[in-house]
Amino acid sequence: MNTQQKIDEAIRNPKNLGEMSGADVVGTAGSSDCGDMLRLWIKFREDGGKRVIDRATFQSFGCQTAIAVASMATELIKGKTAQEALALSGEDLSEPLGPLPPMKIHCAQLVEGALKNALTGEIASLPGASGANLSDSFQSQGAVKINFR
Ligand code: FES
Repeated sequence: MNTQQKIDEAIRNPKNLGEMSGADVVGTAGSSDCGDMLRLWIKFREDGGKRVIDRATFQSFGCQTAIAVASMATELIKGKTAQEALALSGEDLSEPLGPLPPMKIHCAQLVEGALKNALTGEIASLPGASGANLSDSFQSQGAVKINFR
């Protein structure tokens, strides 16, 4: 399958589509190039003393490529810590689809932006948060935080 066929396939059966109630963090990103918008919801769980992503869902007011990348990304980040998920670039997130044409690279960056907004918004709101005590800090956060860019 080429990239377009993979995108078509992902659109036909998008994974993790829709709002999530009870999410720990929510992130939104908009593209100034095309005006598209994407929102991600993330729920964490404890795994061997680590705080990892249990599941993520998304809503897209955007193009098919952004929907396809978000569908892949919400699967890809499962089981990762916030730091591991933050290390993923748009290119990493869209990797299962194959190389995107230049005019579609920003679609993957939109997903990356929403992910970073969700994760760094939460981290930035935690006083003294660092890699070492991040999981403790996450545990003390009960409320959903919505970050708008
Ligand atoms: Fe802008 Fe895809 S065309 S997100």
